[in-house]
Amino acid sequence: MKKSFSKISKINGEISLPGDKSISHRSLLFSALAEGISTIENLLESEDVQTTRQCMQELGVNIWQEGATSFVEGVGKNGFKEPAKPLYCGNSGTTTRLISGILAAQNFSTTLTGDESLSKRPMKRVIEPLTQMGCEFESNEKQTLPVKISPPGKINPIHYHLKVASAQVKGAILLAGLHSDEFTSVTEDTLITRDHTERMLNLSFEETEGRKITKVSSANFPQRNDHFVPGDFSTAAFFIVLGLIAPETNLVLKNVSLNKTRIFLIDILKKMGGNITIEEKGQSNNEPYGNIQVKNSKLNNIEIDKKVIPGIIDEIPILSVAGIFSYGDFEIRGAEELRVKESDRIKSITSNIEKTGLKIKEYEDGFAVTGEMKKQSCTFESYGDHRIAMAFAVLSNLVEQGGAVNNFECAAVSNPHFIEQLESIKSQ
Ligand code: S3P
Repeated sequence: MKKSFSKISKINGEISLPGDKSISHRSLLFSALAEGISTIENLLESEDVQTTRQCMQELGVNIWQEGATSFVEGVGKNGFKEPAKPLYCGNSGTTTRLISGILAAQNFSTTLTGDESLSKRPMKRVIEPLTQMGCEFESNEKQTLPVKISPPGKINPIHYHLKVASAQVKGAILLAGLHSDEFTSVTEDTLITRDHTERMLNLSFEETEGRKITKVSSANFPQRNDHFVPGDFSTAAFFIVLGLIAPETNLVLKNVSLNKTRIFLIDILKKMGGNITIEEKGQSNNEPYGNIQVKNSKLNNIEIDKKVIPGIIDEIPILSVAGIFSYGDFEIRGAEELRVKESDRIKSITSNIEKTGLKIKEYEDGFAVTGEMKKQSCTFESYGDHRIAMAFAVLSNLVEQGGAVNNFECAAVSNPHFIEQLESIKSQ
């Protein structure tokens, strides 16, 4: 579906955003593992989260909805049943990697499959540590999906140093580690990734200058719980950038996750001159949330420290849009992980930006943008990637002649209500 957008002149109002994607996946998984009925409020109803839900149901977990509340009847240790067919993980890297850690500790083998994009994404990063924990894997030479996981019977605890800054890989190891009475630990260096698994499972960790060691054992096995999923900061990011750049803005994003490992974009945008105010409202399962107020601002590009890349990894498409509307050249480096996201995001961003007439220098780990936007109205490609679709929808809302995004439907992977939310705050 090609979606067209016209220039926005004024933004005013409040939006309550759908639940955070990372916390939604984990709320479902931890509730499924725990014995008894857990409840989840504001669970994200996007395609990725539906995938996790479906996988859990195929493993024998009873999940249902009553009004705005999701109920999960967790099966407890060793309670999953062998699925009748391979588990289909759709477009969701988070489902695939996190579920691998759980499947590593069951008493049956499981095969994971995915859509075309997911089938190209690397699984070696979880295969390697889970092999050290005793699992056997069958896949192809490239170690991509489909992958068959055969558990060892008894998980071998490990002390693992993360080779790629990935919260999904960290999560997979910690989830497998929940199934042993002895400690497993994961060490991260310099590039510290999002910490939802640690917070939601109440894991202990040691943090020294640029290094974090997280420990897990069966003592941390989840108990039934009542979860509230705060709004997704990565979804909020599209509206924050739109609000900063639109000519006139007074926007409040309500009950958004304010987890420190997720909101580095706010620090960057503030340093660029963004008028953003945060008001913390509370915590749920150690996850802070609150309101974010945005007013239109004049932005200047700044140097972006490579160390914060894991903290803005999902926001780089929309930060790039902010960058091209800001004074000075925009550059992002140290972001080679973008090459193995839902699309090769370095290619997706640069080829879309090039359409506007701006000059791009592409690097293996990033890109630089200079020059002036010559062509106002463009049709951008989503490359089947939800965050690319929404980032270039925002750009289209900010240029005089508007613009369009091809295959915009993929936005539903993380936010099926983007268009309605946009309409609700927009005055022409
Ligand atoms: C996620 C971690 C990130 C992020 C993804 C969700 C998670 O991936 O890009 O959207 O929930 O753990 P990596 O940890 O692989 O960078």
